[in-house]
Amino acid sequence: MFQTAAKTFSVSAATASAYRRVFLVGLRRYCKKTSTKLRVSEALTGAQLGADVKVQGWVRSVRPQKNNIFLHVNDGSSLQSLQIVADSKLNDPLLTFGSAVEVTGILKKSLHQKQPVELEAERIRVVGECNPVNFPFKIKERHSLEYIRQLPHLRCRTNAFSSLLRIRSEATAAIHSYFKNNGFVQIHTPTITSNDCEGAGELFQPSGPAFVDDNFFSVPAFLTVSGQLHLEVMSGAFSRVYTFGPTFRAENSQSRRHLAEFFMVEAEISFTESLEDLTKVMEDVFRSATECVLARCAEDVDLFHRHVTPGHRDTVEAMLNKSFPVISYTEAIDILHSSSEKFTFPTDWGCDLMTEHEKYLVKHCGNVPVFITDYPYDLKPFYARDNQDHPKHTAAAVDLLVPGVGELCGGSLREERLNLLMARLKRVGLEDTYKYLDLRRFGSVPHGGFGLGFERYLQCVLGVDNIKDVIPFPRFSHSCLL
Ligand code: 4AD
Ligand code: MG
Repeated sequence: MFQTAAKTFSVSAATASAYRRVFLVGLRRYCKKTSTKLRVSEALTGAQLGADVKVQGWVRSVRPQKNNIFLHVNDGSSLQSLQIVADSKLNDPLLTFGSAVEVTGILKKSLHQKQPVELEAERIRVVGECNPVNFPFKIKERHSLEYIRQLPHLRCRTNAFSSLLRIRSEATAAIHSYFKNNGFVQIHTPTITSNDCEGAGELFQPSGPAFVDDNFFSVPAFLTVSGQLHLEVMSGAFSRVYTFGPTFRAENSQSRRHLAEFFMVEAEISFTESLEDLTKVMEDVFRSATECVLARCAEDVDLFHRHVTPGHRDTVEAMLNKSFPVISYTEAIDILHSSSEKFTFPTDWGCDLMTEHEKYLVKHCGNVPVFITDYPYDLKPFYARDNQDHPKHTAAAVDLLVPGVGELCGGSLREERLNLLMARLKRVGLEDTYKYLDLRRFGSVPHGGFGLGFERYLQCVLGVDNIKDVIPFPRFSHSCLL
């Protein structure tokens, strides 16, 4: 017996059972219907045209029209968002800019040239609401890097910062690939260490109940300023090693090129007798990572080169097309002396090169990366190899200076001669605190290495002025809650 609003009518038991079967099969099929889950970047390739798909992401734009509603949904897999076309019946007041959604429907060819594929929605579910009035980003507005920097917990929702994070991820992979392809063994150097490798006293010192007189289990414990000394240990058994990890410096992090926590790429190479062996690796890492990033993140890099730092693409091309000049510190001082520029800091032989000097030298050399070699011995840490070129007295150290940033890499040959190293450690009051001298006693070989500041590398390739705009969570006043 079936009852409708209008009337009641009878059917045979067999017909009723057939209806029930059809209904149950349909219901089962409906419940089982699974759409293929795609990332936006996968949907945009167009490989799955006609497929029933599910896309999840965040709404980047909403455009309601008379019969349809148009959305752009982004899930971080690419700079491009996927256009969703839905019947206006599917509109929902909660479907706002910034909300999180799950959309199922059929992937269709789009009539728009800019967007080859679109998703014709059958169902839209708002997974997470977002009140657009309170949301600090506004639809269709291009927010400045300065503005989004103050919102470290939300800035990944912007195009610029999500592009940056994809580029950062690709650059990380490219650097690892370079070292893997060139026979380097990756060493996980420790974050907590007893050494102040650079001797500059810029140490973060953890504290807590386990610390007695600032010591942890009776030895000093700091956050690492460099993995170099641990790499030097490993270079006694492996001819090529590297590390890539967080590094800490308790220094002025208000500057546009200093962070309290940054990522450093460090390499150490044994049986190295000249600085050219080091400069070659520095230049190769730079080139290979940059070529990879330009090829694999073309759209993301383009966003920076077009909208954030217009014209910077030419600088990057020039860097890749020319080889990096090499000048000695002494030549650099001569260049600075003969310049008509008024520098704030002195440029006498023996003085440290300051950012203003570094920038001038880069410009002078044609706005390409430039190596400065053989610094005054007293400017460099205890490990730098003595060139024994009295009376000048320099060390076999090298920095790579790059356009817009200044120092990108710092490296040196290491003092492998036991007597010279012992004398220097004694002079700086370090004696053999680190068992460092043992490395020179048992199978010591000439070796050298360098460190590359990963955030400064990203600044250089993208033309970004402030280092806090190229790291996910910089430590500064606005980041205190994260
Ligand atoms: O020149 P630095 O201090 O060299 C060393 O630490 C050596 N022990 C490395 C080695 O030979 N294994 O640091 C290397 C690079 C700098 O050239 C700079 O790019 C970056 O690390 N760097 C910083 N980046 C951001 N914020 C800071 N506070 C930085 N300090 C250094
Ligand atoms: Mg340095």
